[in-house]
Amino acid sequence: MDIFALVFIIGLVSSNIAWSNAEGNPDSFNVLDYGAVGDGNTDDSKAFLVAWKAACSAETGTPEVVIPEETTFLVYPIIFTGPCMTDTINFTISGTIIAPNSPSVWEKHDASQWLAFSGVTGLIVDGMGMIDGQGKGWWDQSCKYHPDLEGCTKLAPTSLKLLSCNESSLSNIRFTNSPQTHVLVRGCNGLKVDNVLIQSPGNSPNTDGVHIHASRNLVITNSKIGSGDDCISIGDYTSNIYIAHVECGPGHGISIGSLGKGGNFVQVENIEVRNACFKGTTNGARIKTWQVGKGFVRKVTFENLEFNSVKNPLIIDQNYCNIRGACKEQSTGVQISNVIYKGMVGTSTTEIAINLNCSRSVPCHGISMESIQLKSDRDGKEVTATCIHAHGQETGVVPGPCLHD
Ligand SMILES: *[C@@H]1O[C@H](CO)[C@@H](O)[C@H](O)[C@H]1NC(C)=O
Ligand SMILES: *[C@@H]1O[C@H](CO)[C@@H](O)[C@H](O)[C@H]1NC(C)=O
Ligand SMILES: *[C@@H]1O[C@H](CO)[C@@H](O)[C@H](O)[C@H]1NC(C)=O
Repeated sequence: MDIFALVFIIGLVSSNIAWSNAEGNPDSFNVLDYGAVGDGNTDDSKAFLVAWKAACSAETGTPEVVIPEETTFLVYPIIFTGPCMTDTINFTISGTIIAPNSPSVWEKHDASQWLAFSGVTGLIVDGMGMIDGQGKGWWDQSCKYHPDLEGCTKLAPTSLKLLSCNESSLSNIRFTNSPQTHVLVRGCNGLKVDNVLIQSPGNSPNTDGVHIHASRNLVITNSKIGSGDDCISIGDYTSNIYIAHVECGPGHGISIGSLGKGGNFVQVENIEVRNACFKGTTNGARIKTWQVGKGFVRKVTFENLEFNSVKNPLIIDQNYCNIRGACKEQSTGVQISNVIYKGMVGTSTTEIAINLNCSRSVPCHGISMESIQLKSDRDGKEVTATCIHAHGQETGVVPGPCLHD
C-alpha cells in the first residue's frame, strides 16, 4: 500500500472515530465508542476506563462520560481517578451497570470496592440509571449471617466510593443489591446527593445506604433508602452534614456512629436531619459511641421526623458494644452535647420509645426535646422514656419527662 493510501485510511478512520465519539458533541464520551459491548456479559471495565481517561484529560468544555440507556454493562472493580483537566466533569449513567455476580472475581482485586472515583473535583454523577451490585453471592457467604461457614467473608465490596472529592454531586441514580455499603463518601468536601434511590433487602448484611467518613459540607436530600443496615451512617471526622426529605426503611435508621471504637479522638459536629420518615426500621435517630472513645459529638439537630413502627425511635447509646455486656465500664467516653430533638410523631414497636443512655463518666449535656408525641404501635400499650446521665430541657414530650437538669 502506498503512503498516500495509508494516510487516507488513517484520516478516514480518525475522522470516523471523532464523529462517532462526539455524536455531534465533542464533549461527549460514550462508552460504546470506546469498545464497551453492553451485553451484560462482556467485561466492559476497560472501555469505561478509557472513556474516563479521555474525558478526564479533555482540556475544554464540560466533558461528559455517557453510559447510554437501555443497555447493561458488566463492569469489574475499577477506579476513576482525578484530578481532571476541566473544572467540571459529568458522568451520566442512563443505562445499567452490573457487578460480577461471583465473589471469586475479587480474588485478584481489593475486596472493599467495586466502583470508585478518587480525587476528582467538580464530578457530576447523574442519570436515571441503575447501579446493581449483584450482592447475593456475598451475602450468602457473609460471616455475619453464616458464622459457621468455612471461608465466610467479613469484608465485601462497596458499590460506589467517592473518595477525596470536592464540589461534586450524585443525583437521580438508583442503587440495588450492593455486596456491602451502597455509597461510601470519604475525604470529600462539598457533595450534594439528591434524589437517589437505594433498595436492598432488609436482611442483607451490612448494606449501609450511604456511609460518610472524614467529610464536610455534605447535603443529602429527597432520597429513599431501604437496606439491611443504616440508611445513612455518619462516621468520624465529619462536619456540616445536612440531611432532609429522606425516607428510610427497611434498615437500621439514620445513625451517627458508631464512633470512637479504636479509642480515637472523635470530632463530629453540625449535623442536621430534617423531614425524615422511618418505616419499620430498628432505629430512628441514633447516636452511638464506644466508651473507649474520646472527643465530641456536638450541635446535632433532629427535626420533623416521623416514625412508623420503629423499634428505637430516639436513641443515644454511649456505651455501645458490639457484643452486649462484653465491654467493661471505662472512665473515658465521647462527649455528646447540644443535641436538639424537635417535632416528632409516630409509633414505637418497643416499650422504650426514647432511650438516652449516656455514660456515667462523660454524661450527655445540653439535650433539648420539644414537641414530641410517640406512642406504641399496638393499641392500649404504653411507651416510656429512659434518660440515663442525660441532661437538658424538654417541653411537650410524650412519653416523658425524663431528662435531668
Ligand atoms: C453536566 O451536568 C450538568 C448538571 O446535571 C448539566 O446541567 C450539564 O448540561 C451537563 N453537561 C454536559 C456537557 O452534559
Ligand atoms: C479539594 O480542595 C482542597 C482545598 O481547596 C485541595 O487542597 C484539594 O487538593 C482538592 N482536592 C481535589 C481532589 O481536587
Ligand atoms: C444502658 O446501657 C447499659 C450499658 O450498655 C446497658 O447495660 C443498659 O441495659 C442500657 N439501658 C437501657 C435502658 O437501654
